[in-house]
Amino acid sequence: MSQKKKIILSGMRPTGKLHLGHLTGALENWVAMQGEYQNYHLIADYHALTTNPDTSDIYNNSIDMLIDWLAAGLKPEQSPMFRQSQIKEHAELHLLFSMLITTARLERNPTLKEQIRDLEMDSVVYGHLGYPVLQAADILLYKGDVVPVGEDQLPHIEITREIARRFNAQYATVFPEPEGKITKFARLPGLDGKRMSKSIGNTILLSDDSETIIKKLKTAVTDPKKMRKGDPGHPDVCLVFAYHNKFNPIEVPEIRANCESGKLGCVDCKMNCAKKIIDTLAPHREKRTYYESHMDTVKNILTDGEQRAKAVAKQTMAEVHEAMKLG
Ligand code: TRP
Repeated sequence: MSQKKKIILSGMRPTGKLHLGHLTGALENWVAMQGEYQNYHLIADYHALTTNPDTSDIYNNSIDMLIDWLAAGLKPEQSPMFRQSQIKEHAELHLLFSMLITTARLERNPTLKEQIRDLEMDSVVYGHLGYPVLQAADILLYKGDVVPVGEDQLPHIEITREIARRFNAQYATVFPEPEGKITKFARLPGLDGKRMSKSIGNTILLSDDSETIIKKLKTAVTDPKKMRKGDPGHPDVCLVFAYHNKFNPIEVPEIRANCESGKLGCVDCKMNCAKKIIDTLAPHREKRTYYESHMDTVKNILTDGEQRAKAVAKQTMAEVHEAMKLG
């Protein structure tokens, strides 16, 4: 008997070219699980509006991000990729779900609190408070079972589960209760040791060329107590060591020993690390270049993904309408 594949639904806001944090935090998981699961991936362009109403770059940023997804190994024939804004069912389900959760619950969302603090926001738009409700609609429209995301998104998955439970109890069992899944390197630090983020400007982009990667690695902060070669270092506080862990696991024991003894200097260590990152990203950059010179292919992939996603979304909404007697 053939068993139906479990469904993965995940997405990202279209912030343009992706960085290493996106790769290790989520994208790698998406690619690794493709095949065993049925993947759906959405470009969360409505969500992008919650913190920035300016839409002048939204299309180009969406395409740029899609190219990174493709270059990372998502296969368009297998895994539909689509923009949230092109499938109006997201907006409708968001509205229906918004009746099933209290504002008090949404105000307790720790990710929202973090954003208010980090972006120094003095007020929050209505849609931003409802961010997780829209995310619940994204996931449940495709009946997602598993949601591979960064750590900061887990509170949103919890809210999704609550909404699914409430809907099913109130009307009829339509939705699964999806699970969040985080990667081993969910929090790869940025070049300054803080969380890697475009708004902080501490990223290595998946599209960066060798020269840029070397230049960026030179600025990376290391153990502040290790001033020069010969000084003993503390690898566990060094972000270059964190990168070695991810991109150069074979040499990690040797690097640890030589850093701690003082034999290995930071400049050599950084150059070695840069080289490993360059090697890891080389195939990605090559594929990016291919897609950048085949824009029609990229646009067709999006149109096709949107058609396939739309068919699934329509079917789910038919079930929702029936369950709610809104036929
Ligand atoms: N909130 C996610 C982020 O900021 C993006 C997102 C939107 C998402 N809808 C989703 C992620 C559905 C997973 C599932 O990264």
